[in-house]
Formats: sequence, C-alpha cells, structure tokens
Amino acid sequence: MSWFFTKSVDFYRQNRPDHLLTQYGSPLYAYNEQVLRERCRDMKNLVDSPLFGVNYSTKANSNLTLLNIIREEGLDADAMSPGEIHVLLQAGFKPEQIFYICNNVSVEEMAYAVERDICVSVDSLSQLELFGRAFAGRRVAVRINTGHGAGHNEKVVTAGKKTKFGVNDDQITDIKALVKRYSLRLCGLNQHVGSLFMEGSAYLAGARLLMELALEFDDLEFIDLGGGFGISYYKQAGEGPMDLAPLSRELTELIQNFQHRCGRPVHCKIEPGRYITAECGVLLGNVLARKVNSGVTYVGTDLGFNVLQRPIMYDAHHEAEIYRDGVCLEGDHETVTVVGNICESGDKLLKARSLPRMQLGDVIAVMDAGAYGYSMASNYNNRLRPAEVLIGLDGQPRLIRRRDTLEDLMRGFAL
Ligand code: LLP
Repeated sequence: MSWFFTKSVDFYRQNRPDHLLTQYGSPLYAYNEQVLRERCRDMKNLVDSPLFGVNYSTKANSNLTLLNIIREEGLDADAMSPGEIHVLLQAGFKPEQIFYICNNVSVEEMAYAVERDICVSVDSLSQLELFGRAFAGRRVAVRINTGHGAGHNEKVVTAGKKTKFGVNDDQITDIKALVKRYSLRLCGLNQHVGSLFMEGSAYLAGARLLMELALEFDDLEFIDLGGGFGISYYKQAGEGPMDLAPLSRELTELIQNFQHRCGRPVHCKIEPGRYITAECGVLLGNVLARKVNSGVTYVGTDLGFNVLQRPIMYDAHHEAEIYRDGVCLEGDHETVTVVGNICESGDKLLKARSLPRMQLGDVIAVMDAGAYGYSMASNYNNRLRPAEVLIGLDGQPRLIRRRDTLEDLMRGFAL
C-alpha cells in the first residue's frame, strides 16, 4: 500500500478508500494536506536567499482550499487566464503576488490584469506592441524562449525550436525598441523550459541564458526561471524522487553570482505546479465491469478521461492500487487494460498493466493525480466532474468541492 494511506493506522481507518467513496460518491479526488505543505516547503527551501521566491503555477490545481494552503505556506502564484487570476484573488493572494503569464490574448484580457495592478508577461513582439499601445508607461515582463526545452512529452516542451512560446533570445534589440517606443518599464524576464524533468541540466542552461540577457537591462525587478520540476510516476517500479540537492546547489550558486553581477537586488523566482500538487492527490473510482474482448481483459471503471485526461492526452503513466473491503490487494496479478465510461475507444486509463486480479465492487486508487487531474477534467459526455476532499492535518477528510450536479449541466443555456 502506498504512503498516501499508510501514514498511520488511525489515518487509514479514517480514510479507507471505500468509505471515502461511500461518503462522497465515486469518482473522487482526495488530497493530503500534510503532503501538500511538505512540497511547498521543499520548493521554498530550494534556494537560500531573501531574493528567491516561489510562484505556484495555478493551472496544475486551482482548488480554492488548496490555493489557500499554498498561500499560507508563503508561495506566490502565476496565472494563465483571467479565470485563474479571479480564483487567486478569491483565495487571498494580493495583486503583487500574482504574475499573469499570457499567451496570445486580447487587450481586454491584458486589461483585466493591468486594472488590478497585476504584472503581465507577454509572449511575442506583437503582443508586446499590443500591450504598449494600450498601456503605455506601464510595467511589463517578456517571456523568452532560451532554446533549452525539456518535458515528459513533446506537447509540454515549451522552449526550443518546436514550440509556439516566447520571444527568441536574438530579438532582444526588438524588445528594447518596443519598450522605448511605448515608454514601458520592463520589470521582468521569464522562461519555462517545459513540464517534468528529473534532472536540471536544461533548466540550468535556460536559467544561465536568461541571466545573461537580464544583465542587458538596467531596471529589471525580477527574473522568473519557470517550473517543470518532476515527480516520480513510477514509485512501485522503484524510481526515486527527483534529487533536488544538485539543482539546489547549482541554482544557489547561479543566483548568487547573478546578484553579484547585477550589483542591485533582482528577485529570482521559480514556478512549480506539478511538484507542489501531484503527489498530494489520489483519484478513487469503482470497478464496475470485466470482460475479455479478442483476448484483451478489460476492467471497466467510472474513471473516464473526462475525470483524468493525462493518460489519453500524453500517454501518461499513473500507478494504481486496488482495494477490497479496505484491504490493499497484493499478488495474484493479471494483465488488464483499465478503461472508463466514455464512448471513445481511446478511453484507456491504464494500458496492458499487471495488476492484482480485480472484481466488481473493488476500489481503484490512481496515484499522483493531484496535478493536472481535476484542473483538466471536463463534462464531456455530460458527465459530472467529481467531488474533491481534503484530508486535513488532523487526518479527517472534508469536502472542499462538491460533485457537479445535473443542474450544473444546465447552467448558461439561453432558453
Ligand atoms: N510556468 C508556465 C509558464 C507553464 O506553462 C507551466 C506549465 C508551469 C509553469 C508549471 O509547470 P510544472 O511545474 O507543473 O511542470 N497538462 C500537462 C502539463 C502541462 C504544463 C503546462 N505548463 C500534464 O498533465 O503533464
């Protein structure tokens, strides 16, 4: 049984997966507050400098209660849309704690942030020009494509030659010209190499380049090195956590050196999403069917890709545990494909996996589902998005978002 449920006998008694499903309905996202807080602290302690800060990347999980905890832990946040800005403000983040990193947006969307005194990062020269025309004299940041990309799938590599993101590092002169033309104040440069690396070489290469570029501007307030810090999705197979120590050492040295060369305080931020929320979350569901089709054993569950999209979107791997009457099954493995209830053949949660033999009524727990799980869930097939519960520091679960209702599906129709 995984660490998620094995914290203590009491913890397990209070949070038996089958009991959680009986109480809150299936499927269900369950989060562990202790783990969330620990991951926030890992990131805050990555670099020991008063000029170092962490922006949580809201897109990974924007549940209001989790955002509140993340804020309490002393993190700031980045937003990708006015919707994320809205939720962050509701969670008590101050405008100066929010960084709006936008990508191909209208002046109206930029205005949503500017009017609230939230710093905006633009992603192209044309968006910089749009910003300048509308908001001459204001602060703005620019996202740079340093050419160093990384990530678990090409869809989430966000720097390098094959991506839409950032202004290339050879266009610094154009940035300077636009900044001058519209009397803008270039307050920051940011980058994001991509999502999920387990060793930091691309990240550090990008950071080095961003720092060199930053030295060309005299009035920068900050640089933001982006997120992407990995977690292990293969724990049962023995993969350990990302070793943060070497990255911490090198980043600390880089930042100290950068500060020295700047000769004045320039803040350095990072932007982790997955690292903060992935491991605090499990997704629970019910085993509802079994069949053999053309030699393949399918186990049918209520975990369609409307609930967890990562496997079909990125071929992403999640580990699973099977519970029967409160006992985690071990041994007696069989190879099965675990599928959901969506009317598409691609609706496969776990493909050809060796798992304990399942029967109807078993509970399946999908591990490391706290990041890009609920935040990418949808109402496809008019299915209801699941509830979310938080298992607090006292070990007690409590509802932090109710399950969708049929009325929610009728919201917004003009009749
Ligand atoms: N900063 C920016 C500008 C980003 O675009 C992202 C993620 C992050 C920070 C945070 O990256 P993280 O630390 O979470 O890797 N849905 C995909 C991941 C998409 C990431 C998009 N950008 C998945 O489920 O793997």
